[in-house]
Amino acid sequence: MAFDVQTVSDRLQGRAVLWMEETDSTMNDAARLAAMGALSGTVVGAERQTAGQGRLGRNWHSESGLGLYPSLILRVSLPPDHLPIATMALGLAAAEAITSTTGVAVDLRWPNDVLVGDRKVCGILVQQHHDALICGIGINVNQVAFPDELAPIATSLRIAAGREFPREALFIELMQSIDRHIEILLNQGKEPILKLFTQASSYVTGRRVVVEQGEVLLRGTTAGLDDSGFLVLQEDDGKRTLILAGGVRPA
Ligand code: BTN
Repeated sequence: MAFDVQTVSDRLQGRAVLWMEETDSTMNDAARLAAMGALSGTVVGAERQTAGQGRLGRNWHSESGLGLYPSLILRVSLPPDHLPIATMALGLAAAEAITSTTGVAVDLRWPNDVLVGDRKVCGILVQQHHDALICGIGINVNQVAFPDELAPIATSLRIAAGREFPREALFIELMQSIDRHIEILLNQGKEPILKLFTQASSYVTGRRVVVEQGEVLLRGTTAGLDDSGFLVLQEDDGKRTLILAGGVRPA
């Protein structure tokens, strides 16, 4: 069903919600709008993306009318070292919105993938453009299947729950949940977000993982988050390594 942008705008008073049938990537649209001075909270979505962007230069599969592919402009004044925590706050917000709207239980994989079991249902990409953060959130909502290369690692809320979900309620809750989590970060600092993430994610402590660091694969057990939100890895050879970026997967 077509996304009912009017209902969504009415419920999200004071926020500009722009919706398109097709775009290359809403990240690009939001960055352009930010450069033109769009207000914090402005969000742009599309029914399909022809060049959806994922983390680490990957593509984000954006099938028409079945997922949510919004990018949100946030103008928040955060010290540069709070940026990884802001992305974790977005992951927490997405996880909370998904579970409260659909009842589907989710996990968080550092830094901000939302999983059902060990399959990804939502991914988040944050880019800084001058004084604005462009926050792209991709949620697999009503897909019934994925291309072969994604099938073993991706899922949708429909596959997980065995029923379809209206995207509007989830989108409204997502925006409200992001507002709440960013407020926590702005008003109370990093600690509550680090604590919430540690509680919500099975990946932060005691998890056997493989971490891709460019060409190198590190193997070990996760040992918590440092003050900046980076993942501590106790490597099998005894070294403790701080993971700043990169793909983390179960060993
Ligand atoms: C990831 O690799 O996990 C991040 C995926 C981010 C996808 C979203 S969909 C909306 C926005 N537009 C894009 O092109 N990417 C982000």
